[in-house]
Amino acid sequence: MLTKASSAADAAMTRRSVRAYLDTPVTDDELHSLLELTGRAPSSRNVQPWRFIVVRDQSIKNALEDASYGQKQVGGAPVVIVLYADMDDTMANLGEIVHPDVTPEKRAATLASLEQSFGAMSAEERAAWANGQANIALGYLLLIAASKGFGTAPMLGFQADRIKAILDIPASATITAMVALGRPGEDGFRSHRHAVERITRFR
Ligand SMILES: Cc1cc2nc3c(=O)[nH]c(=O)nc-3n(C[C@H](O)[C@H](O)[C@H](O)COP(=O)(O)O)c2cc1C
Repeated sequence: MLTKASSAADAAMTRRSVRAYLDTPVTDDELHSLLELTGRAPSSRNVQPWRFIVVRDQSIKNALEDASYGQKQVGGAPVVIVLYADMDDTMANLGEIVHPDVTPEKRAATLASLEQSFGAMSAEERAAWANGQANIALGYLLLIAASKGFGTAPMLGFQADRIKAILDIPASATITAMVALGRPGEDGFRSHRHAVERITRFR
């Protein structure tokens, strides 16, 4: 059974998808800590376009499961975290991502530069860019969960429009992943990964 990892390296080596969970509840404090640490993920220009919806209500989890081709880990997990990227929210609040320590002049210049950069992109390009950033947070979430002894099942097998309707996620947002989470009730499959030499060239 997955045990608590003691380092990032340990978490990377031991984590695997877990699709069955114990009934043990996940506390508010545990979730807060998990999401606070996940939010430490870096992003281009520190834009942090990721947003989370934490679902514990069984009837909502059941609806999410139905919109996820009946994947049992959705309704069966104590918690389902829906991670999405929202550039409309991000762009409406660009001021909050500018570092508080910069001068007013630097702040104004940064805001103008961000507005210029994002304004030059199409809505589709912005959504794809933000989803790329939110995937960094997804990696953090999975590793941090493993380090705290949680099992997780990341998922993309769902009907995004239905998930958005159930959770009132803006149509313009991109759902990066759904993550079922709880204390592990199974071991999961042994990891199967490329060797470094297969995917790397040293020059
Ligand atoms: C973005 C993403 C989407 C995934 N979608 C699903 C899914 O919809 N259903 C599922 O059972 N597993 C899903 N997986 C799990 C992968 O199949 C799994 O991570 C991969 O086979 C490696 O196994 P491991 O997670 O146990 O190391 C997804 C994983 C990722 C990262």
